[in-house]
Amino acid sequence: MTGTNIRDAQLSELGLLAKIWFDGWQDAHARIVPVELARLRTLKSFEERLRAASPGVRAAGAVGAPVGFYYLKGAELYQFYVASSARGSGVAAILMADAEARLGESGVHAAWLACAIGNDRAARFYEKCGWLRAGTVTDHLEVPGATFALEVWRYEKSL
Ligand SMILES: CC(C)(COP(=O)(O)OP(=O)(O)OC[C@H]1O[C@@H](n2cnc3c(N)ncnc32)[C@H](O)[C@@H]1OP(=O)(O)O)[C@@H](O)C(=O)NCCC(=O)NCCS
Repeated sequence: MTGTNIRDAQLSELGLLAKIWFDGWQDAHARIVPVELARLRTLKSFEERLRAASPGVRAAGAVGAPVGFYYLKGAELYQFYVASSARGSGVAAILMADAEARLGESGVHAAWLACAIGNDRAARFYEKCGWLRAGTVTDHLEVPGATFALEVWRYEKSL
């Protein structure tokens, strides 16, 4: 997957990206987070959040056929998802390099991200990329009209 294109997501792709987010969320989180949170994570909710985050969403792959995306929130690598078909292919590392470059360009020296406790594949991936687990913290996750408190692993990286 060397040479995978990382670029700004197009508005026309937000539905496809929401599906990658929904499916990836189910794969990684549905079994390890409270059922009340899982109920709120609908495809529509992800599409609305992507729309609110756009522009600013970066996508991997050809326009019209994205295989992953991420977006930032200040110093936080806020969302990071790769489609199941592209996992293990190296796309995630290319997407991560783009995310770290953009964090650095925006003046961030101490980046962080939250990872659900027990999302072992993501944790292993972040550690391979040089992120360090700083500890367990309470994150206040975005849910429609409110926030949801969840204990998460906090990862940090000096850029
Ligand atoms: C997290 C994610 C972006 C990583 O991308 P990826 O292509 O899967 O990453 P890689 O395959 O390069 O690395 C994953 C590592 O975890 C390992 N792994 C796979 N399943 C695992 C498991 N159940 N437990 C622990 N490690 C696991 C892999 O073997 C690999 O390590 P290795 O290279 O040393 O063999 C991708 O898996 C994803 O989108 N997952 C669903 C959504 C998600 O969890 N997003 C992050 C939210 S915090």
